[in-house]
Amino acid sequence: MDKTFHIVTFGCQMNVNDSDWLTRALVCRGWRQAPEDEAWLFVLNTCSVRDKPEQKVYSELGRLDMHRKGKPGLTAAVGGCVAQQIGAGFFERFPFVRLVFGSDGIAQAPDALDQLAEDPGARLALLDFEASYPEREALLQPMPKAALPAYDADAGAPEAGPAQSFVNIMQGCDNFCAYCIVPYTRGRQKSRQPGAVLAECRARVEQGAREITLLGQNVNSFGLDAGGAGVGFAELLRQVAAIPGLLRLRFTTSHPKDIDPAVVRAFGELENLCPALHLPLQAGSDAVLLRMGRKYDRARYLDIVQALRAVRPDIALTTDLIVGFPGETEEDFAQTLEMMERVAFESSFSFRYSDRPGVASLRMGPKVPEDVGQERLLRLQSLQNGITKESLKALEGREANVLLEAPSRRQDEGQPFWRGRDPGGRVVNVRLSSDVAGTQLGGRMLRVRVVEAKNHSLLGEKVGPPW
Ligand code: SAH
Ligand code: SF4
Ligand code: F3S
Repeated sequence: MDKTFHIVTFGCQMNVNDSDWLTRALVCRGWRQAPEDEAWLFVLNTCSVRDKPEQKVYSELGRLDMHRKGKPGLTAAVGGCVAQQIGAGFFERFPFVRLVFGSDGIAQAPDALDQLAEDPGARLALLDFEASYPEREALLQPMPKAALPAYDADAGAPEAGPAQSFVNIMQGCDNFCAYCIVPYTRGRQKSRQPGAVLAECRARVEQGAREITLLGQNVNSFGLDAGGAGVGFAELLRQVAAIPGLLRLRFTTSHPKDIDPAVVRAFGELENLCPALHLPLQAGSDAVLLRMGRKYDRARYLDIVQALRAVRPDIALTTDLIVGFPGETEEDFAQTLEMMERVAFESSFSFRYSDRPGVASLRMGPKVPEDVGQERLLRLQSLQNGITKESLKALEGREANVLLEAPSRRQDEGQPFWRGRDPGGRVVNVRLSSDVAGTQLGGRMLRVRVVEAKNHSLLGEKVGPPW
C-alpha cells in the first residue's frame, strides 16, 4: 500500500502547528503528501469553538463518503477539538474513519497511522489527556526540500525550514470562560519545560526561521501550573528573545487578566519582540465580562492598553470579540462599540455567540435572537473596517522592515510582488524589480516604503538600490 496522505486543517494556530508537526512526522516515516484525490489517508484536524466549524467537519466527512463510493479503501483520521469532543462516535457515523486523536493524543498519531496502514481491520482512539505536557518527537532535523509544508511550490521551498515558525509552549486552558469549549477539548493547562521550548526555538532558527510565534491558549499563565520549572512567561520571552539570529518574536494568545507588568515592560526592552499584541477583549460591558467569567473589567483592560502604549507607542493591538452573549442588551453592545473606538484596534476577529455543549453559558439567558446578533456583528465589523482603514492610511509614506513570506497573489506584467509582514504584523505587498522575478525571497528582510493603504493590507516599494 502506498502511504500517501492529505491533511485539511480548521481552527486556530495551534491546530495549524499540530498539522505541520504531523506532516513532518509522517514524511520522516516515509509517507508522502498527496492531493486529496490521490491520497489513501485523509486527515481532518478539527475545531469545535463554534457550531459552524463543528458542522463543517460532518459535511467534509459526508462529502468524502460520497466521493468514496467510487473509490473503496479510503481511510480517514479525525484529530483536534471535535475529535476530542465526539471521540469514538465518529466510528459509527463514518465507518471509514479509523483513527480519532485528541490534542494530547497527537503525539502517538504517527505510530497509530502506521498501524492502520499495516492492519486494515484496526481502529484506534487516542483521546486520553496526559498529566504533563505531552512532549512529541522533536523532528529537529531539516526536512527534505520537497516535503516542507505550507510553502509556495511555485516559488520553490527554501533549503531549510520556513522563515516563520510556531512553537508550542503549553497545552490546554484552566480558565473556563463561560462560553468556551476549549478547556474541555484541550484539557487542563500544562506548561512545557522551558528547556524543550528553547531547544525547539534554537533548532528552528538554525533551520532558517527568522520569526517565531510562541503559542498557547493563555501564554500569560505559562509556568503557573506544575510545568514550566519555575520560569514565568516574561522570563521565557527573555530567554527566547536572546537566541542569536532570531529577528522577530511574537506570541499568542494573551488573556488580559494574567498579563504580567514584566511582559508589558518586555515590549519596551526586547528589541526583537514585535510591537504587536493580540489581546482578546470579548465584550465591552462590565456586566457581560462578569457573566463571561473573564475576571477583568473595562478599566483594567484600558489600563493595560495605556501601559503598553507608554512603553511601545507603535504597538499594534488586535482583539477577539463576541456579540450576542446571552443577556447582552443594546446598551451592553454599545459599550463594545465604544471600547473598539477607544482602543482603536488595528483589526479584530468578531463572532456571533454560539452555544457549545457543556459550557456554563448554555444555561444563561435570555438568548439574543439570531437576527439581532447578526445585525450587531455587522455594525461592529463595519466600525472596525473604518478604524482599520484609518490606521493603515496613517502609515502611508512611512518606512518599515518587511519579512517576505511568499509571492503575492497580485503579479503585474513582469513586476513581481511579494507578500510579507511589517513588525506590527500587517500584511505588506511589496513591488519588486523585474530582475528578481522567479527568485526565492522567502525569509528576506527588506526595507520598504508604504506607498498605499488598501482596506486590509499595505502596498509597499523596496527602499534602496535594486537587486
Ligand atoms: N484562548 C484564546 C481564545 C481561543 S478561542 C483566548 O482566551 O483569547 C478563539 C476565540 O473564539 C475567542 O477569543 C472567542 O472570541 C471566540 N469564541 C470562543 N467560544 C465562542 C463561542 N461559544 N461563541 C462565539 N465565539 C466564541
Ligand atoms: Fe477559552 Fe477562555 Fe481559555 Fe481562551 S482563556 S481558551 S476563551 S476558556
Ligand atoms: Fe478551535 Fe480547538 Fe483551537 S476549538 S480554536 S482548534 S483550541
